[in-house]
This record gives sequence, structure tokens and C-alpha cells, in this order.
Amino acid sequence: MKRAAGRGASRVQAWFPTLIYRAPLSSGSGALALNRELLKEAAQLREFDRAGLSWSLKHYHGGYTSYGSMDRLQQFSSTFDQLRRRLDRHVQRFAQTQHWELGGRSLEMTDCWLNIMPRGTAHSFHLHPQAAVSGTYYLKTPRGTPGLKFEDPRLAMMMAAPPRSAEVAPEQRAHITYAARAGELILFESWLRHEVPPNPVSAERISISFNYHWL
Ligand SMILES: [Fe+2]
Repeated sequence: MKRAAGRGASRVQAWFPTLIYRAPLSSGSGALALNRELLKEAAQLREFDRAGLSWSLKHYHGGYTSYGSMDRLQQFSSTFDQLRRRLDRHVQRFAQTQHWELGGRSLEMTDCWLNIMPRGTAHSFHLHPQAAVSGTYYLKTPRGTPGLKFEDPRLAMMMAAPPRSAEVAPEQRAHITYAARAGELILFESWLRHEVPPNPVSAERISISFNYHWL
């Protein structure tokens, strides 16, 4: 945020940044092969995870998620564990940007689940209690599928604040949406509320979400 020019010695500075991390998972042919294998296992999971399909009927309208049935895929599948190893490196970098002192403990993936969103499926605003870092890795994001929308964490405390003008800089808006791009991941602190708006196109959006706890 730029400092606003003021009269005399007055000035405005921005404080308390909220950090959101985005990066390609990795480069090279290994990443492409891993994606192909993850997509193959995603299709198999949707076919065989009866408990997940019935959970999704109630809680993930129109789509499939393994959140209610198989939410530790990194322990279930060596392919997902390969993804976990790559994600670990990004989470370490994110921790460095946060200047976290982890002491003798580390950030470890505790949960990892699959999401398949056909047309109309959405995931309304929520956060991930107990975790330190949450994120999503995108496997398949056809044109027109929705991004990941974040909410200003102070919104609930703005009470009687007037609305902001349409010309406001992106970092001063109440929401910011990150486009979902296959092969990329997004990390954020788990207290940051976020949503995936309804998928408006018939093509499926496929992603893997996860939590890291400080253990
Ligand atoms: Fe989430």
C-alpha cells in the first residue's frame, strides 16, 4: 500500500499483512507424471469411495469430496504421499516468509482430501480450525472454473465502516480471488476464511486440499 501524502508530517502506513502463497508445485517431467497419476487415482477414488459419495450427497451438492470419508490420503496412497513431500517444501518456505519460530516442532500434513466439482458445486465460506497452514493443489482447472476467494479477516470487526469505492487498490478490498491453475498450489493461514463459488461451467474442477498442523 502506498503512503498517502498528507498535510505536514502526517502519513499513513499499512500494518498486519495477511500472506497468501502461490507457486507451481515443481517443474520438470516428474511433476507432469505425478499429476497424471493423481488424476487417475482421483477417478478411482470417486468410483470406489461409497462412503464419500454418500457424504458428498449431503454436504457437497453435485460433486464428490473425500473429506468426510478419506481425509488422510497421504497415508493411504504413495502417490499422494509423493505430493505431500513436494508440498512440505512449499510449506517450509511459507513458514519462512511468516518468520515463524517452530522450536523443536515442525509443520506436518495431517489431512489431505480430494475435491471434484462439476457444474453448480460450491464450497461456501469457511476456515480450518486447529490447523496452522491450509492450502489447495490444483489438478484440473478447465477454462471458466472458479478460483479461490478470500475474505478480509477483519471484515466482521468493521461494524459501522462506510463501504470502499470501486477504485480501491486490490489489497484494500474486502475480498480477493486467486484463479485456480492446474499444477499450482495456494497456501494460507488456516484462520483465513475462503470459499469456492459455484462452478458455472460443465467441465469438472479437480483439486486436492490439505492441512498442516504445528506438531
Ligand atoms: Fe477450505
